[in-house]
Amino acid sequence: MKVVSNTAISLDGRINTRERRFAFFGSKRDHARMSRLRAGADAVLVGGATFRNWPHASLPDAEDRGHLRGRPWNIVVSRTLDVPLTPEFLGESAVRPLFLTRAASLDGKAFAVEAEGWAGEGDLPVAWMLEQIARRGVERLLVEAGGDLLFQFLAADAIDEMHLTLCPLVVGGPAPSLADGRGFDLADARRMRLLSAEPEGDEVFLHYEAIRKGSPS
Ligand SMILES: NC(=O)c1ccc[n+]([C@@H]2O[C@H](COP(=O)([O-])OP(=O)(O)OC[C@H]3O[C@@H](n4cnc5c(N)ncnc54)[C@H](OP(=O)(O)O)[C@@H]3O)[C@@H](O)[C@H]2O)c1
Repeated sequence: MKVVSNTAISLDGRINTRERRFAFFGSKRDHARMSRLRAGADAVLVGGATFRNWPHASLPDAEDRGHLRGRPWNIVVSRTLDVPLTPEFLGESAVRPLFLTRAASLDGKAFAVEAEGWAGEGDLPVAWMLEQIARRGVERLLVEAGGDLLFQFLAADAIDEMHLTLCPLVVGGPAPSLADGRGFDLADARRMRLLSAEPEGDEVFLHYEAIRKGSPS
């Protein structure tokens, strides 16, 4: 399975402002690129925090939907399963929802949507998430998660390519960033190779591929 992420970041690498309300950093061009990336994916994955901010289906725009290979999965990863199941999300028949959570969070709950529960200790491991997703025939996964989950995907070396839109604003303060978690040491920082950099208007569209340990740099 190929795993690609897409994130709009401020000049200081933030993905939201300090209020953490739903905010879209990018322009119409950024939205159009996001739509094309979604059209090329079999599944779009977000974390619970991102979903709570925007509990809607993640679909390409109407003009890009012809490129979809089938009904895409919309995957939400949550420890708590404390997520709103809105009519906008549940009523969107163009996507197949899937929640990945702890088995304990599903216990005794009549959950309206397809869900898988991790029965092991602690957090859901990224390898387990990818297993659940691959079992459903997904070959191209688009990660639109925030910095909590994206850090875990990077730490698990599960990201093949990253798309970043560098947006012309500075946020500062304690806002979430591209990759949060506990962070990497210098020796362990994940490295990327630039595939393309396209300035358009005041934004720069960056496309990187991950350099895996042991691969020629
Ligand atoms: N600018 C952009 O392109 C962009 C993209 C995505 C998000 N955002 C913004 O970023 C903010 C969210 O950032 P974030 O880092 O908090 O979001 P996130 O990574 O998308 O979501 C974090 C949540 O994911 C769940 N989670 C994470 N790791 C897990 C694991 N191993 N097992 C089970 N569940 C796990 C938990 O959900 P529960 O709390 O439900 O247990 C956790 O609170 C929001 O404000 C959002 O709007 C911006």
